[in-house]
Amino acid sequence: MNFQIALNFEDGVTRFIEAGGHETVADAAYRQGINIPLDCRDGACGTCKCFAEAGRYDMGDNFIEDALSADELAQGYVLTCQMRAESDCVVRVPAGSQVCKTEQANFQASISAVRQLSESTIALSVKGEALSKLAFLPGQYVNLQVPGSEQTRAYSFSSLQKNGEVSFLIRNVPGGLMSSFLTGLAKAGDSMNLAGPLGSFYLREIKRPLLLLAGGTGLAPFTAMLEKIAEQGCDHPVHLIYGVTNDFDLVEIDRLEAFAARIPDFSFGACVANPLSAHPLKGYVTQHIEPRHLNEGDVDVYLCGPPPMVEAVSQYIREQGITPANFYYEKFAAAAA
Ligand SMILES: Cc1cc2nc3c(=O)[nH]c(=O)nc-3n(C[C@H](O)[C@H](O)[C@H](O)COP(=O)(O)OP(=O)(O)OC[C@H]3O[C@@H](n4cnc5c(N)ncnc54)[C@H](O)[C@@H]3O)c2cc1C
Ligand code: FES
Repeated sequence: MNFQIALNFEDGVTRFIEAGGHETVADAAYRQGINIPLDCRDGACGTCKCFAEAGRYDMGDNFIEDALSADELAQGYVLTCQMRAESDCVVRVPAGSQVCKTEQANFQASISAVRQLSESTIALSVKGEALSKLAFLPGQYVNLQVPGSEQTRAYSFSSLQKNGEVSFLIRNVPGGLMSSFLTGLAKAGDSMNLAGPLGSFYLREIKRPLLLLAGGTGLAPFTAMLEKIAEQGCDHPVHLIYGVTNDFDLVEIDRLEAFAARIPDFSFGACVANPLSAHPLKGYVTQHIEPRHLNEGDVDVYLCGPPPMVEAVSQYIREQGITPANFYYEKFAAAAA
């Protein structure tokens, strides 16, 4: 039986390989042209040491303590020259993709739908036969080339890939290159190039309650994660707090309600910072984090939004004197920055 192994490189590039249970992950990677660090192939040197973020695997017992200690093994470190997958896995490789002679993949697609959800937010879907081979981890992003220019902009997938189609949730930045294209010129059928997938902000194996914190279109990676959670099920509570500046920024509430109906232990709150808002929940995301959401630190926190929001929320969590078991974040930094 073949499993999908996501190799996540230091520079954020992710490549997926297939590995049969009979072959090691290192052999499977080389067979597919990806030269992950390797030396002895014998479990003796430790050169191939990586970190398994998710998945089940067998490490056998043909390696020495100098190459991989019992502590490291317990923490999730693996030797890819010994590791045999027993399920799909995510493996963090401590090297850049170019060192491993691979690079991000390019895909050609065309716009299947572009819709202005409100004056500040655009929903974009692209489709193409090539995209049916695009595998990514929910939470990751791609670089989308702005048609008619050489420039690219990063966008998180807001959906999983279905029949060669993926979606994005995009803030309309007045005068912005991609924003102007999407609000002025874009129409169904226009070609778009994608490069990726990229990023280390993705849904890990769910081992404890999750607190998801979104600012504006920082909601995008969470809707992709929630699609995955709805598909695979989840044994822990998941709470999302979605904060925006103005009432018109608040989008996709129907979709969140549909997730709440599908995922038994999923709840969410949406708040608007503008004091003149008519929305019942006002203020910033941090004002709606309750002690039970932090679960005395036994929680994985995922945070995504514009850089000032990510910084303010990170600082707030530090000030609570609680260290979450895991804390992952993504800043939607502007390309020029
Ligand atoms: C990893 C990553 C993932 C991202 N994912 C998403 C996503 O899913 N959805 C999304 O909407 N955005 C996302 N972004 C931001 C996105 O890549 C673009 O920066 C944004 O869409 C603006 O592009 P633009 O071409 O319209 O404007 P640009 O031509 O890049 O910018 C025009 C002007 O506006 C300024 N500007 C750009 N963005 C902002 C902003 N947010 N607030 C204020 N001023 C700004 C620029 O500095 C510049 O002066 C992501 C960024 C990163 C790094
Ligand atoms: S390559 Fe030497 S331990 Fe794996």
